[in-house]
Amino acid sequence: MLEAEFHDGEVTWFQGGMLNVAFNCLDRHLPEKAEDTAIIWEADEPSESRHITYRELKWEAARLGNVLKNLGVRKGDRVIIYLPMIPELAYAMLACARIGAVHSVVFAGFSATSLRDRVLDCGATVVITANEGRRGGKAIPLKAIVDDAVTGIDSVKSVLVAKRTATEVPMHFGRDIWLEEAMLNERGTCPCEWMSAEDPLFILYTSGSTGKPKGLLHTQAGYLLYASLTHKIVFDYHPGDIYACVADVGWITGHSYIIYGPLCNGATTLMFESTPLYPNPGRYWDLVERHRVNSFYTSPTAIRSLAREGNEWVKKYDRSSLRILGTVGEPINPEAWKWYFDVVGEGKCPVVDTWWQTETGGIMVTPLPGVTALKPGSATLPFFGVSLSVTDENGNCMQGNGIAGHLCIERPWPGMARTIHGDHKRFREMYFVQYKGKYFTGDGCRRDEDGYYWITGRVDDVINVAGHRLGTAEIESSLAGNHLVAEAAVVGIPHEIKGTAIFAFIVPQKEAERMTREELMGALKEHVRHDISPIASPEQVLSVPALPKTRSGKIMRRILSKIAVGNYTELGNVTTLQDPAVVEQIIAEHKKLG
Ligand code: WT7
Repeated sequence: MLEAEFHDGEVTWFQGGMLNVAFNCLDRHLPEKAEDTAIIWEADEPSESRHITYRELKWEAARLGNVLKNLGVRKGDRVIIYLPMIPELAYAMLACARIGAVHSVVFAGFSATSLRDRVLDCGATVVITANEGRRGGKAIPLKAIVDDAVTGIDSVKSVLVAKRTATEVPMHFGRDIWLEEAMLNERGTCPCEWMSAEDPLFILYTSGSTGKPKGLLHTQAGYLLYASLTHKIVFDYHPGDIYACVADVGWITGHSYIIYGPLCNGATTLMFESTPLYPNPGRYWDLVERHRVNSFYTSPTAIRSLAREGNEWVKKYDRSSLRILGTVGEPINPEAWKWYFDVVGEGKCPVVDTWWQTETGGIMVTPLPGVTALKPGSATLPFFGVSLSVTDENGNCMQGNGIAGHLCIERPWPGMARTIHGDHKRFREMYFVQYKGKYFTGDGCRRDEDGYYWITGRVDDVINVAGHRLGTAEIESSLAGNHLVAEAAVVGIPHEIKGTAIFAFIVPQKEAERMTREELMGALKEHVRHDISPIASPEQVLSVPALPKTRSGKIMRRILSKIAVGNYTELGNVTTLQDPAVVEQIIAEHKKLG
């Protein structure tokens, strides 16, 4: 059922088929599972949790669907969801799916500017948010951020506001509506809009190597099939299992492996509002004990930050329910892998290191638990039907094992993104042009003697900080947008916990000369934090007199990456620089960091 042409990025699956994703995630299960728990909501405070049954979930999604329809939302219209990890987030996504609207969830840690860019890019008519979010005992003023973000955007007709806390927020007459009140008036039935297999389901923004984040568009049938099949096989899901993915729904991991995959399988899925360290580093294992979790899915950064806190926090809790441990988002170092396997899983639970991307929609490289022999730090082998290739710099496919190069995918798979919203040309150029006839992942990898894959990280201008994907271009343009900065270049440096951290080189404006190093660094960290998100804020900012540029004006990040880690001697060829003397000046400044 595949019709595809990788050369111009045109792929369709199951063309002619009709379905509704919400029907498959809800209604289809009701005959047997109406009273089974669909979602376990674990709130920020460990004392608060809730079970939502399939019957309730369908009822809430239907009511919210009716609210959206009353606001004029129709099939194909875009709805921005800017919510914390509360059940309303699941209701909202399923409501959109039910009525055929296209949701775009924006991670609630993003700034007003980032949110605004996304609202404008997708032309949303409705934004769904909350008065406040709660995370790690702190309040996040989401409604205020939305007010800031949508000011002057005419396309946004309504803002629906969920009440997460008791805090009052100003409501704009004629635009803002309390979600709960609007839902109260609605019936709990809402007919499903029957969608074509290739109609859009959602847009999710992610960073690329150039420009602003791009809106990857996923469609209906192929995506749902791929998310549910991989969830079932990789987590060996059986009816009655309790499955917990502690990611945020604002990322693709949450879309595929908190919401769509598990719900399509009729599973019990957990939504976690808090952080691994709140109120203490035992939080994950506390929730595993209380909810008798069978499979647990988190990130290498979370594992590293917990390993550092010592084994007592783990041992305190009963983890005998655990069967499978998963990891995703960034390469996992063998030490962290072993700690997860030995300490958390007591050597009894296979660790599934799952490699995939926002673009792939679901897991592409992974062990199958109990089947694949594991190697700490390797994502092992491709999932069923996935055909990989490793390519050298000239685009030649490398044969055999014991090789390293760029990771490409040879054939279309059902879960892949179909385009970048509003920019198919960019989609084609980003993924299908570099290596003709293949999908280029942007990652480097090694294929060892046994044919196992070891992902070594991004080979493009994307930096993966704590599993969050950031483009050097967007951070540089944010820094350059500050009045203290004339020019900026950022690179990734190894970081013990986050895997990679951001190191920024800036050429200051005259005004910055009066400031101390600390003042300038503080101001610029704060600037990026406010302009993009705290996750994009640089670890280090170094003022330099100039940036190393080629004669054509391209910044040579290769040189900066080396200097940033104090490697001053292996800079490679610097003769192509406009002004090779710049390198010595930058090294002199870097040495001052001590
Ligand atoms: C990039 C995709 C997939 C959901 C979360 C991130 C890196 C992801 C692994 C892994 C090594 C990994 C890659 C990839 N990555 N999983 N198991 N081992 N690297 O989605 O934000 O689209 O980022 O994350 O570099 O390209 P994303």
